[in-house]
Amino acid sequence: MIKKEGCGFGMISYHPSAMTVEIKQFVDSLICDSGYLNERSLRVVDATLGDGGHSEVFLKCGCSVLGLDMDKESIERAQKRLNKIFKNIDSPQDSLNKFEFQCFQSRHSQIKKIMKKIGWKKCDIVFADLGARLDQLYREDMSFHGVEEADMRFDKSENTLTASEILNSYSEAQLNKIFKESGIKGYKKITNEIVRNRHISSMPCKHLSEVLFENGVKRIHPSTKIFMALRREVNRESQELDLLLNSILEIIRAGGIGVFLTWHSAEDRQVKTFYKKMERMGFGEIVTKKPIQPNESELARMPQVRSAKLRVFKFNKI
Ligand SMILES: C[S@@+](CC[C@H](N)C(=O)[O-])C[C@H]1O[C@@H](n2cnc3c(N)ncnc32)[C@H](O)[C@@H]1O
Repeated sequence: MIKKEGCGFGMISYHPSAMTVEIKQFVDSLICDSGYLNERSLRVVDATLGDGGHSEVFLKCGCSVLGLDMDKESIERAQKRLNKIFKNIDSPQDSLNKFEFQCFQSRHSQIKKIMKKIGWKKCDIVFADLGARLDQLYREDMSFHGVEEADMRFDKSENTLTASEILNSYSEAQLNKIFKESGIKGYKKITNEIVRNRHISSMPCKHLSEVLFENGVKRIHPSTKIFMALRREVNRESQELDLLLNSILEIIRAGGIGVFLTWHSAEDRQVKTFYKKMERMGFGEIVTKKPIQPNESELARMPQVRSAKLRVFKFNKI
C-alpha cells in the first residue's frame, strides 16, 4: 500500500508534473502487455528528474527508476521527496517486485555512461520532460529582471557561457540563429537592437526588456520568448535532446517505449521528426499519432501546463 504524499505539501512547493494520468496509463499498459512484473520491475530512465514528480508515478507503478538532472538542486529535492515516499511503501518481504531508485547529477547525453555505471544494459522506458522546473525559472540567476548579469546555467559547475556572455559576445548571425530556431517572430529586428545597444556599452541584462520594448518589439511579451531562447542556448537544450534521442536505440529494450513531454514548438518538432524517422526505418510505431495535450480538468488545476505536448513511440524491433 502506498500512503498519500502530494505535490506542494510541507515546506517545499514542487514543480507541477504534467499529464501524470496519461503517462501512468502508458506505463500500466506496458506492464500489462509484457507481463514484466512477474519477473522483475520495469526499468525507467527519467532523463529530466526535476522534482521527481514523474519518477514518483513510475515508482508507484512498481518500476525501477534511474533519474538524471544537470541541476544539483533537482537531485537534492527529488531525493528528499522520493525517499519519503519509499519509507511509506509497505513492500512484502517476499515481493518479486524489487524496485529501486537511483539518481545522478548529469546531462542526459551521458545516459549510456551512467547506465553502464549502475549495471543497466537496457531499459524499458526512456522518459523526458524537457525544459526547466518552475522554480528554476523564478530563480534570480535565471531571470533578467533587475539583474546586471544573468547566468541561466542549470549546472553552475560547468565552464560554459552564461546568458549575459552570450548576449554580449555572440555575433549578429549567431543571435539570429538562436532566436530563429526558437520561433521568434521579427527576430532580426530584435537582434539588431541588441547589437546596436550593446555597442554603446556591454548591455546589462536588466536593460534587455527595456531595449526590446522601447524599440517597438511589442508583438510578443518583450522578454519571455527571448529569455527562453537564451536559456535553451546556454544549456544547449536542443543539442542535448538530439543526443538523447540518438542514443535511445542503444539503451532501450525491444518492446520498450519512448515518452517525451515537450514545452516548446522546436522541441516538439525534434521529437516528432525523430519518431517519424524511427517508424520509417522499421524500429517500431508512433503510438500518439497526434500529441496528447492536457485535458480541461488538468488545465483548470494547473494552467501552467497549457503548452505541454506528450508523444509516445513503441520500439518493437531493436
Ligand atoms: C520540466 S523539469 C522536470 C520536472 C519533473 N518531470 C517533475 O515532475 O518534477 C526539467 C528538468 O530537466 C533538467 N534538465 C534540462 N536539461 C537537461 C539535460 N540536458 N540533462 C539533464 N537534465 C536536464 C532541468 O534541470 C529540470 O530540472
